[in-house]
Amino acid sequence: MSAVGKQSPALSYDRIRAVEWESDHVKLIDQRVLPARHEHLRLADVRACAGAIRDMAVRGAPAIGITAAYAVVLAARDRYRESATAWRDAVQADLALLAEARPTAVNLRWAVERMRALIARLPDGNPEAALLAEARTIHAEDIAANRRMGELGAALIAPGSAVLTHCNTGALATGGFGTALGVVRAGYAAGRIAHVYADETRPWLQGARLTAWELVQEGIPATLIADSAAAYLMKQNRVAWVIVGADRIAANGDTANKIGTYMTAVAARHHGVKFMVVAPTSTVDLSTPAGDAIPIEARAETEVLGCAGTRVAPEGARAWNPAFDITPAELIDAIVTEKGVVRDPTPAKLAAMMAQP
Ligand code: MRU
Repeated sequence: MSAVGKQSPALSYDRIRAVEWESDHVKLIDQRVLPARHEHLRLADVRACAGAIRDMAVRGAPAIGITAAYAVVLAARDRYRESATAWRDAVQADLALLAEARPTAVNLRWAVERMRALIARLPDGNPEAALLAEARTIHAEDIAANRRMGELGAALIAPGSAVLTHCNTGALATGGFGTALGVVRAGYAAGRIAHVYADETRPWLQGARLTAWELVQEGIPATLIADSAAAYLMKQNRVAWVIVGADRIAANGDTANKIGTYMTAVAARHHGVKFMVVAPTSTVDLSTPAGDAIPIEARAETEVLGCAGTRVAPEGARAWNPAFDITPAELIDAIVTEKGVVRDPTPAKLAAMMAQP
């Protein structure tokens, strides 16, 4: 058997890279214009990277963390050029700019803190090579975690099942392969998942624009639904699992994820559908005790007042646009990380999982 033949079949479903380092800059797929246009942004400084995160050219908790890690390389390079002695102090403002670009996904802060810790340890001299190596490691670790979670999550699903997913948690949202969508990729390759339903995910349409784009490229059978069709889909026994990602998992298992996740979890429990959260340990925040302490990003009213850039509500109408909600741990059947599966999460079970090597 060839080396390729020995690999997990799931590895063949892995082509898209949302974030890349290219010689001296960060290269992003511009997710604001997908799927109509497949365009790249080439960003050469930290401000451009922070702006791309804020404006959601790159989005998804792990992907914005990886972008920030590469952005620290750009920041340090520029600060070192300004002053080989004072760069370490000067770069702190850049780290703050990145960490504050979006508030809910803890992966962003996690990646910035990991780069900050390396900056503090580095010997004098040009920091660029060491920081780039660390950013590349963060990126590679995320892809490896996703592949492992794909195997672990898929193993929970009975062969031939249909599943529902929310938002986009695929290669576009991560270093590659995806979290919840990684389970879909692995589960489809293993014959455990036969069909995927994808919520369109108003207002930003991550499901309709991005998840559908990934699934079409992979040739995985998928059906898009309006978010409001999810409960009726479950009522008709059409799905066995809801599989979602996370932006932050608190110490008690409460999970922040894309707005609409909570109502989907409520509907799943009512209909006896299992609910799985798939996220790397960089998304788990043991310093946040419970979901009510997670900051929820409020985005512009215009995202709700219109659709795909076209205004649909009358002038004078107002909107409320929380970008995330909190699913309480009691509605979650399994949290899957690269370190293992936590069923019916509790603070003690999550702490034990995080303490593993
Ligand atoms: O606002 P977004 O598109 O960044 O929100 C993304 C999500 O909510 C994802 O479900 C989450 O980040 C996990 S991505 C692997």
